[in-house]
Amino acid sequence: MDVVIREDIAGYMADLKKFLADTRDESPEEMAAFFSARLDIYEEHMSAWAKGYRRLASLLPERTASILDLGCGTGLELDEIFRRFPDVEVTGIDLCADMLKKLSEKHPDKNLTLLCADYLAAPFGENSFDAAVSFESLHHFFPGDKLGLYRKLSAALKETGVFILGDYIACCDEEEELLREAYLEKRRRFPVSGKFVHFDIPLTAEHEISLLKDAGFAEAEIVGCENGATLIAAKKSRV
Ligand SMILES: C[S@@+](CC[C@H](N)C(=O)[O-])C[C@H]1O[C@@H](n2cnc3c(N)ncnc32)[C@H](O)[C@@H]1O
Repeated sequence: MDVVIREDIAGYMADLKKFLADTRDESPEEMAAFFSARLDIYEEHMSAWAKGYRRLASLLPERTASILDLGCGTGLELDEIFRRFPDVEVTGIDLCADMLKKLSEKHPDKNLTLLCADYLAAPFGENSFDAAVSFESLHHFFPGDKLGLYRKLSAALKETGVFILGDYIACCDEEEELLREAYLEKRRRFPVSGKFVHFDIPLTAEHEISLLKDAGFAEAEIVGCENGATLIAAKKSRV
């Protein structure tokens, strides 16, 4: 499928370079603390991706009964998923206890199991889920970490399982490399307690798809892009 990730790559890259230069001396924030500090404005800020959340929910297979959500936050994708599958059983994992509290307050009547944990380290089980989703969370991690995560995810899906990723995807190799260098420089210059910091290191779609396939997914392809959130659908097997 032909999907345009950025309309004007040259203009976008010029703006990104200026942003990185302007913020070079700013320390990144610890991941969970970053989201806790912005809880009040979080959902309004993310409303820019309303179409992306709807699209992600629409891509789930008919009769999806169980879902694993990586980095569920306050559950904006789950709001849409529950509209389509009111009784779906969801396991949501997130590092930030404040985001999870807001999610459970929004959906007290839903079949939700919430884990305050690092999804890179948490066990997911085997052959357990019809689908997995992740929206705007995985662009904070290096390829090696993602490969391990995708292997674990593939094992956790049932044979007919699918993974729908909605994320910030780099428009070119230069963007991927530039942000990785900026991240490494910030981690060298600014000691931040905690394992993770909030700084974006997205991969290109080609890189993301090759990691999914290397991890064992039989198929993975871009299926859309909504306001900068690229949607990738991966199938565990061809059944
Ligand atoms: C931009 S928010 C997206 C939340 C939700 N998916 C949405 O679209 O509204 C990113 C979320 O990923 C979570 N997160 C980041 N790294 C994580 C990790 N290693 N394990 C679990 N959650 C993580 C953050 O705490 C945050 O809630």
